[in-house]
Amino acid sequence: MQKIFSGVQPSGNIHIGNYLAVIKQWVALQEKSDCIFCIVDWHAITVPYEVKALQQKIKEVASIYLASGINPEKSVIFVQSQVKEHSELAWLLNTITPFGDLQRMTQFKDKSKKLQGNVNAGLFNYPVLMAGDILLYQTDLVPVGEDQKQHVELARTIAKKFNSKFGETFKVPEVSVLKIGAKIMSLTEPLKKMSKSDPEPSRIGLFDTPEQIRKKIGSATTDSDKEIKFNPKEKPGISNLLTIYSLFADKPIKDIEKEFQGKGYASFKSALADLLIKKLEPFRNKKAEFDKNPEFIEKILTDGANRARKIAQETMQKVRTVMNL
Ligand code: TYM
Repeated sequence: MQKIFSGVQPSGNIHIGNYLAVIKQWVALQEKSDCIFCIVDWHAITVPYEVKALQQKIKEVASIYLASGINPEKSVIFVQSQVKEHSELAWLLNTITPFGDLQRMTQFKDKSKKLQGNVNAGLFNYPVLMAGDILLYQTDLVPVGEDQKQHVELARTIAKKFNSKFGETFKVPEVSVLKIGAKIMSLTEPLKKMSKSDPEPSRIGLFDTPEQIRKKIGSATTDSDKEIKFNPKEKPGISNLLTIYSLFADKPIKDIEKEFQGKGYASFKSALADLLIKKLEPFRNKKAEFDKNPEFIEKILTDGANRARKIAQETMQKVRTVMNL
């Protein structure tokens, strides 16, 4: 069976971009693949974070995986720091990764700019830890959003280099990115991607209340004319809203354009808010359920770490042997 690995950082507020581009695809993939879905806490601490809130954030991501329909009896759900092999492999891969390759990473450049020079070595080495995550499980396919594509490509380069230096050890993973929806844009600045760390009105969180959803969609930036037409270059605002509508309704964009022909932005936005309120209701309900029973999630994460560790230990045994460690 094809092996899938992917993950989300327990940082900021997980939003509909993370869900539509990635988690929703995982749910479909788990039917026909062996899937491992990680909560990557070691990645989340490469930028300043709220120490006290970290465990809560981890539980929140786990409840999003479960509320989305990830089945813990089929797929492995676990927390990265509970499987120490991730850090061991990352260190070893660091020794074959060119400094220049890491300097070129777009996300590193963007985050460094935001942090105004207050950058730690962990942020620089972040893509190597991510390569370790992927290679540890002999992954075939990595479903991610557009912004993580470059990191998966680096993981492929590192895998090939390791194999040619030390002998066939790792599978070389493929990246999987949606054709439409791999980059959901900010509601307030539709030329920028929706981000977990940007100010609140720019994104819809998966646990947002109906009032918050209606308000944010109502004030989302649209374009100067009134036409509901998909054209990301000239009409980025409405094109982003159409993409969101299409992915939640599982309807082609062309059909939605037809449905709202001549109706204007207000009526489209009101229908989109209704759709989001309905589609996000299970997230709000499930979260309330899980919050009452934290042991349920803890048990899933412990079982998941035990299953992941077994695979990770096998790979590390091979790696130590070929490197003569
Ligand atoms: P993270 O936590 O930033 O984001 C989780 C996933 O959501 C995607 N994403 C988006 N997709 C569409 N539109 C957006 N606006 C948007 N914003 C985020 C991301 O591309 C990602 O797929 N480094 C990774 C986590 C990670 C990982 C891994 C992923 C660590 N190890 C191994 C795959 C395999 C990250 O920071 O994702």
